[in-house]
Amino acid sequence: MSFDHFDYKGVRFAKELHTEESVSCAENEFEVFDDDIYNVTYPKSGTNWMIEILNLIKHKGDVTKSDVLSIQRRSPWYEEATFHEYIDKMDPPRIITSHLPHHIFAKSFFKSKAKIIYTIRNPRDVIVSLFHFTKILNLFTPTENFQNFIEDFIQGKAMFGSWFDHIKGWMQMKDDKRFFFITYEELLQDLRGGVVRICKFGGQELDDAQIDLVVKHSTFKSMKENPMSNWSEMPSEIMDLSKGAFMRKGISGDWKNHFTVAQSEYFDKIYQEKMKDLNMSFFWEQSS
Ligand code: A3P
Repeated sequence: MSFDHFDYKGVRFAKELHTEESVSCAENEFEVFDDDIYNVTYPKSGTNWMIEILNLIKHKGDVTKSDVLSIQRRSPWYEEATFHEYIDKMDPPRIITSHLPHHIFAKSFFKSKAKIIYTIRNPRDVIVSLFHFTKILNLFTPTENFQNFIEDFIQGKAMFGSWFDHIKGWMQMKDDKRFFFITYEELLQDLRGGVVRICKFGGQELDDAQIDLVVKHSTFKSMKENPMSNWSEMPSEIMDLSKGAFMRKGISGDWKNHFTVAQSEYFDKIYQEKMKDLNMSFFWEQSS
């Protein structure tokens, strides 16, 4: 997985998106407000989906209020310095996105009452989604060597470092009242149920019709057709959508179309080793 990068506290960042100063500022200087909601993920785990859901909930399902801005303006990634101008203009409660691992997250968060929603996805599907994403996001040098790609992912050479460390870091907060986690696969299986749980966590009271609207506008099909959500407004020199869609497949288990049996067994062995001290079991562990 090749991209121009630097390392910060053991984590890999893309130079085209971040600088050491922007990451250090995100960690040490960013001011968290008590009513903020943070949408935190490892990349390709359903970040944009959660942005859509949270903004629709904020506007009680009214897509004409929720989707006036493109996704990156609606809920910017606060570790990217260029997005701060959007954050400064946000109405409360701010819905802010981040891929930062737990040990680099804004220090002021840990002294606040702000909340985090953390979405996790089967890492094999994350690898596949990322593999395709490297073909459209121009900061990457695309590769056809899937074996090397898996190896780089395992070794934490992807943007935002090791998936395993990201999950284990954030799961330290799993019993904290300010922290809610959900899997991509749960959302796929029961989007409405997920939305109801997210509303409950956020203390937002929506009636049944409003929840139906949130669900309607956050399906894969709705988002794929929505120019405010499908990244079609991005300049092609940054994201070249002629080479593939950002809203690609939106399914669980696409890894089965990419991994050989040997790759799958190899990944499984590494997964068991790296996750054994977590004492949690995820949705995909039964089916993979
Ligand atoms: P695929 O590449 O497997 O299709 P992120 O937002 O973290 O970058 O994750 C992108 C992945 O989430 C892509 O996966 C994308 O298709 C999927 N996704 C985005 N919105 C979705 C939705 N409404 N339903 C299902 N999957 C969605």
